[in-house]
Amino acid sequence: MLALRMEILRKPLGLSFTNDDLEPEKNDILIGAFEDEDLLACCILTKVSPDTCKLRQMAVHQKMQRTGLGAAMLTYAENIARDAGFKKMVMNARKTAKGFYEKLGYEVSGDEFVEVTLPHFHMQKHIM
Ligand SMILES: CC(C)(COP(=O)(O)OP(=O)(O)OC[C@H]1O[C@@H](n2cnc3c(N)ncnc32)[C@H](O)[C@@H]1OP(=O)(O)O)[C@@H](O)C(=O)NCCC(=O)NCCS
Repeated sequence: MLALRMEILRKPLGLSFTNDDLEPEKNDILIGAFEDEDLLACCILTKVSPDTCKLRQMAVHQKMQRTGLGAAMLTYAENIARDAGFKKMVMNARKTAKGFYEKLGYEVSGDEFVEVTLPHFHMQKHIM
């Protein structure tokens, strides 16, 4: 999963992961979409409050982008979050992916901001 996240999310920005980034993920829900042994997409759910979880590190393998896999995995992640008792999903979405999340019912809240050198929007969706 780290290899996929590096390839799709970090390497293009010249960034890596530190142990401090990864250590808290022990408490997260890690989700992967596999074909046989190959990981094709992944994301992470992080609890931010009893009602709310945060979608992070959403990445689809280059060769599978725009095939519907991202949407299928996000719907699956929402079901997992709902089953775990969360009522709301939030995220810091890259501006380039905003349209993808909007198609899945997410709404922008607040102004554009910069994170990991890229323009982002805070987005959210009620999942109950
Ligand atoms: C953004 C990403 C997660 C979307 O996953 P995907 O599998 O490519 O998207 P899907 O094929 O499931 O697309 C679902 C719908 O969203 C649209 N869509 C996909 N990516 C989009 C984008 N970047 N901007 C606008 N719309 C997009 C698709 O056209 C499709 O629309 P349709 O239902 O009308 O056909 C994926 O392309 C990716 O990993 N990109 C690089 C890393 C990244 O940006 N991650 C998100 C960080 S916040």
